Amino acid sequence: MSLHDHPEWLKDAVFYEIYPQSFYDSNGDGIGDIAGIIEKLDYVKSIGCNAIWLNPCYDSPFKDAGYDVRNYKKVAKRYGTNEDLKRLFLEAHKRDMHILLDLVPGHTSEEHEWFKKSSSAEENEFTKRYIWTDSAFSGYSMPFIGGETDRDATYILNFFKCQPALNYGFANRDRSWQSSPESEEAAATRLSMVDVMRFWLGMGADGFRVDMADSLVKNDDNNGEGSLGKDNTIHAWQEMLGIVKDEYPQAAFVSEWGRPRQALAAGFDMDFYLNWRWDGYPNGYARLTRDVDNALDNNPEHDHSYFNALGGGSICQFLDDYCPQYESTCNEGYFSFITCNHDTPRMAPRLSDRERRVAFGMILTMPGVPFVYYGDEIGMKYRDIPTKEGGYARTGTRTPMQWDDSKNLGFSTAPKSKLYLPVEESSNASERRCLVKSGEIPTVSAQEECEDSLLSWVRALIFLRHNRASLHANASWRVLHAPVNGRSFAYERCSVDSLEGSDFRAEKTIVVMNPSLSNESIPLDSLEGLNSKESNPALLQIGEISFNSSSLILGTQSFAIFKL
Ligand code: NOJ
Ligand code: CA
Repeated sequence: MSLHDHPEWLKDAVFYEIYPQSFYDSNGDGIGDIAGIIEKLDYVKSIGCNAIWLNPCYDSPFKDAGYDVRNYKKVAKRYGTNEDLKRLFLEAHKRDMHILLDLVPGHTSEEHEWFKKSSSAEENEFTKRYIWTDSAFSGYSMPFIGGETDRDATYILNFFKCQPALNYGFANRDRSWQSSPESEEAAATRLSMVDVMRFWLGMGADGFRVDMADSLVKNDDNNGEGSLGKDNTIHAWQEMLGIVKDEYPQAAFVSEWGRPRQALAAGFDMDFYLNWRWDGYPNGYARLTRDVDNALDNNPEHDHSYFNALGGGSICQFLDDYCPQYESTCNEGYFSFITCNHDTPRMAPRLSDRERRVAFGMILTMPGVPFVYYGDEIGMKYRDIPTKEGGYARTGTRTPMQWDDSKNLGFSTAPKSKLYLPVEESSNASERRCLVKSGEIPTVSAQEECEDSLLSWVRALIFLRHNRASLHANASWRVLHAPVNGRSFAYERCSVDSLEGSDFRAEKTIVVMNPSLSNESIPLDSLEGLNSKESNPALLQIGEISFNSSSLILGTQSFAIFKL
């Protein structure tokens, strides 16, 4: 197995991200748990999601919702036991599903045993496991803490104050206390992470989503001419993933990196296309559905997202960012689209139901392995609620899953005051039922009953994706139509699998969309043989779409998938 081979199952994988606190509370203590996830596996599978990314579920003081790990090898009590997690792996495998855990390799909690030992004034095995300066009064150009420990030094942070950085060395060193990435201590840190991965893979996990995967080696820039950047971090991953993939060739790894050239070179199978806004400039992904200064601002005129009917522009701004990244990495692995994640504001209610349907149409038919964030399939809303466990503005995206119109929307039987986060509901049962019925409070059960629900649309898209090799992660992608002065967009997907010796014929799919409020037409010349309703019926469609002798006419807020 080479570092750059990818598990076969990823080609047809569609992930569902579960934030365990908020998914389903099986024992009525107000917080979601692993037994609850097991109970809902059939639901996840019923949407077509055949893989799950589970946010950290390890022992933690929860100052950053579990990304502050106190013990990498122990499930947090509030979620259950290691045995429960093992049962989740088993139950998922019975259903042909895969589970990725969340690996947090860049930092631990300040309460981790390693850090406690590392903080001691006396030298021990963990003295250099974290990054310490040489005096309690030393500063540095990275966030650091002093005066908290017996050790006469300050330590460098990786994120919040509760998250001291693990020591993978410094690429460019300008202080005597900095380790080299080749040092014994950096090697020991890398091996300790390999050990964590082995522990869970041995128990049945199918791989990891890796937190801040680019953060390991510090000062890892200016690596010289011809470099991809982050060379030392890439090298560290090549070593760690090399070991683990040799032992578990079907394990999958997705990085929170956001730079697929680097991440795939490092040995990851997939990298996330993350929602980024640097210096006020949105990246390609953010241009699609989150090109807005304030995610709680529901005035469509302030929102320049492509899928916003009123405020959006041409798809070209997205393509300028995406195409070079796709083209330079499509033979190396997958660059993955997400509907959202636990750090990102949900699209609803800022984007309307119709706008989100068109957006999901694109997200679920692009190359790479897609990730659906729990609750997005029913249109759960981003809410303005107080912070919880280091969530701050992210908290509004992390609220309890909305199952039905029973108490706490079916999330938990606990009293309201005990809920991890407040559910969206009115206190009056009959009013609540009304709001659920009218769709104002979306729930799974109400949408299950309605053929035309968002849930049905997401299901239809995912099942179509499974059924067409040309919509799988590895199928090629090519832009057919993307006007600078227009709102429409069309692309072709083409299957690339071929069985040796077979007379395999490539399968093609064409996807077209128009998120705007006026008609747009696309010349048939640019649509690769798509020519009439009769010869090319749409496999899935939203809105009005018609042919004339020379063009495809896309009505307002329309979307279609054509078989070629
Ligand atoms: C990225 C995670 O997704 C986020 O939730 C967390 O707070 C930081 N990394 C720190 O681990
Ligand atoms: Ca519980």
